[in-house]
Parts: sequence; C-alpha cells; structure tokens
Amino acid sequence: MDTTSISRRRFLKLAGSTVLSLTTGCTFSPASVNQTGNLFGKASSSGGDTSLDIHALRQIITADSRTSRTIMWNSASEQKNAAVAWRAEGSDRSARVPASSTLYTDDGQHIYLHSATLKELPPGVPCEYQVVAEDKGTPWHPLPTDNGGPFKALIFPDSQCSDGYVTWREVAQAAAQQHPDAAFLISMGDLVDNGEDHNQWDQWFDGLAGIADRLPIAPIMGNHETYTLDWRVRWPKAYLSLFDLPENGSPNFNRHYYSYDYGDVHFTVLNTQWHELNDLTPGLKTEQMEWLPKDLAATNKKWKVVLLHRDVLQYGIHGRPERPSGIDERVGRAFMPLFDEGHVDAVLTAHLHTYRNRGHIANFTAGETGPLYLLTGVAGDVRYPNLWVDHAFDRVVAPQPETDNYLTLEASPDALTFRCFLPEGRLIDTVTLKK
Ligand SMILES: [Fe+2]
Ligand SMILES: [Fe+2]
Repeated sequence: MDTTSISRRRFLKLAGSTVLSLTTGCTFSPASVNQTGNLFGKASSSGGDTSLDIHALRQIITADSRTSRTIMWNSASEQKNAAVAWRAEGSDRSARVPASSTLYTDDGQHIYLHSATLKELPPGVPCEYQVVAEDKGTPWHPLPTDNGGPFKALIFPDSQCSDGYVTWREVAQAAAQQHPDAAFLISMGDLVDNGEDHNQWDQWFDGLAGIADRLPIAPIMGNHETYTLDWRVRWPKAYLSLFDLPENGSPNFNRHYYSYDYGDVHFTVLNTQWHELNDLTPGLKTEQMEWLPKDLAATNKKWKVVLLHRDVLQYGIHGRPERPSGIDERVGRAFMPLFDEGHVDAVLTAHLHTYRNRGHIANFTAGETGPLYLLTGVAGDVRYPNLWVDHAFDRVVAPQPETDNYLTLEASPDALTFRCFLPEGRLIDTVTLKK
C-alpha cells in the first residue's frame, strides 16, 4: 500500500537509531603496487583495532559474481586512505583496492560513504576481505564468490517496519540462521517505510548485522524508497547512494534497474516506480520496455528470473467490490508480454504484502506454460490481514491472517526451486521448475 502516516515516522524517530559497529580489526602491513595497479601487501591474520569507525559494512551484488564484488560502508568521520584488502582464504598475501569516499548528506545527517569494487577475484576460490583505513584494518570477512554451480539465495519481501525494524531483524536473522549455505540475498523493495529517514536505513542495516558483511545484497527499488519525510515523492537519493549497484548505461536512470548473473541464472531487476518518478524525470517505463528484451536476449544463462516491486495482477479488496480483479494495467499489461517473449522462467513481485503462488501465466492466461509468478509476501510488520480478495490465478496463499515470510531460491543444474517459509522455519510452499 502506498499510504502511511506521519505518526509512524515519529514513532521510528523515537525508537532511535541502532547503528552497526564493526570496529575490530588488524594492522595492515606496508603495501606495494603491482603491475595491474592493485596495492599488494603482507597482511596480518589476527588482532583488531576497535577505533576504526565503520557502520553498515555490506557487500553489494555486481553483474558478474564470479570475479567481482562491491564492498561499502559508512563512517561518521572522514577516513584517510580508505581501501578494501582481499585475499584467497588464509593467504598471507593480499591485494588492496582504494575506495571512493564521498561526504553524503540526507535527512540532516552528514556521513561518509565508501565504496570499492573488487574486480579481479579468482572464480570459484573462497576469498576474504577487510576494510583498511587510517592505517588500521577490520578482521577478515568471508567473500563468497560464484563458482558457476548450484547456489541458494534468500529472498525477502517488503521489510518496511513501524516497530523500529524489530520484525525485520527477526525475519532476516532467522532466515540466515536456517540457511547458512545462502550465497546472497535479494530484497524485493520497500526496504524501509520512508526512504528519506536515515534512522530507518540505520535500523534496516542493523537487522542484517552479521549477514550483510558476508553475503552480497541485491536490492530492488520500491515506492517507499521514493518518499520524503512528509510523504511527498522525491528522487530516491538514499537508496541510490547506499547501494552501489551495477550500471545500466542509462543517462537518466542509471542503477535504477539492472541485471546480474549468479550460477546458471540471469536475474533482471526492474524499477516499477515510474508513477512516482515521472514528474521528476519522465521515461522510466518506456526506457525499461526497450531495455528488457535486449537484456533477456543477451544472456546465455539457462534460467531467467525477473524481479520487480509492484505486482502484475490486480487484486480486489474486501469491502470494495467495485475494484476489478485481473491484470494490473500499470505494470502487468505492459510487461507480461515481454516476459512471455523473453522466455522468462520466473517473475517475482512484492508491494501487496501477501504471499501468493499463481503458477504459470502466458498471454494473460493461467495454465501450464509461461513464467511462474510469485507474489513474495511481507518481511516487516506492515501487514494487511484479510485485505485482499483471492485472485482467480492464486494457487497457494499464505496462512491467514498473514504474518511474515521469506523465500529461498535454489538453483541446481536442471531445476530452480522456490520455497516459502514462515520465520520459525515452517515451510508453506514449494515450487520447482525443471528443464
Ligand atoms: Fe510495501
Ligand atoms: Fe510498495
């Protein structure tokens, strides 16, 4: 739902910010420059420095996770010589990549954002990284890369909260604990309730404590990422700044939509917020309608999965029988034919805060062909119990009244399997695609 109240934000302000602190580290030995421009040095393997100011240390997905990874963090103060060192797991030799650091101001807060993209990782070799700044270093963190084989991903629907992100933290931590073999995590949009509120972003990252530093995040923009503190629309500055996502070549909407590969799966991420952004910069929808077929045609991966925030179907609301059910005219009517033509295997959506497995849909008709359509549910505390009228295409609906859920995606050589779990680990739906 697009509507919310200002009192929720005030509550969150009062709830206060809980900020990540990863402040232990080790001393980095003097470095030298190799012929490729990387700084190489002999890194110590233990110890730590508790004075290093690092918040929300996070890995961000890149287009090719076999060889690259972006590392980001925030700091309250400027950091000299900020960099990321990486090495093959346990090696005593490491490479150092300088970070780009910028002063970032939003919601009255001034922080420094740091980002470094590691581009020469050895495919399939377990690696680790540490942040280095001010001649200090954090401990080494796992840096899982794509070995091209089977993998598991965690998928989180809308995580926006009004409870200080306690619910989000519980769902995320439970999922990570129940699936320690996950390789990365997908967030389906509406990460936060108010995209300008820095307290909410701090709390969102706090919910991923112990997760975001070791698993890359692949987020999708939701409408709530485009809201000002007083619930008008703004450019999604925080989302675009906090996640250094893969570039798409667009002069107006760079990194709003993007694609990436993992294993034998090509993931295409769309931005369904043209309704919000058109008054600021028009053209997001038409641009993506031109880009999507090219993106889908360019991949040679076996599987194609499309991820977008707003759903493609139109749901009725109990008590409002005049609301039609069928195809969503804003998103579904335009994009579902492109999914058909692009031979997409699965389409994942969010925004309605309910889990629905609609099976396969082709040419706007439910059946046994066409992409699998999953409406992914809710991973925060903003719930709409018993709001929606079941759609004629619904095959599986989460237990009502609905609480929270998350999904996993497992890719193996001949199958894609999606599973939907309640946070306590109860499995409520499984669907497998084979080819
Ligand atoms: Fe939402
Ligand atoms: Fe939404």
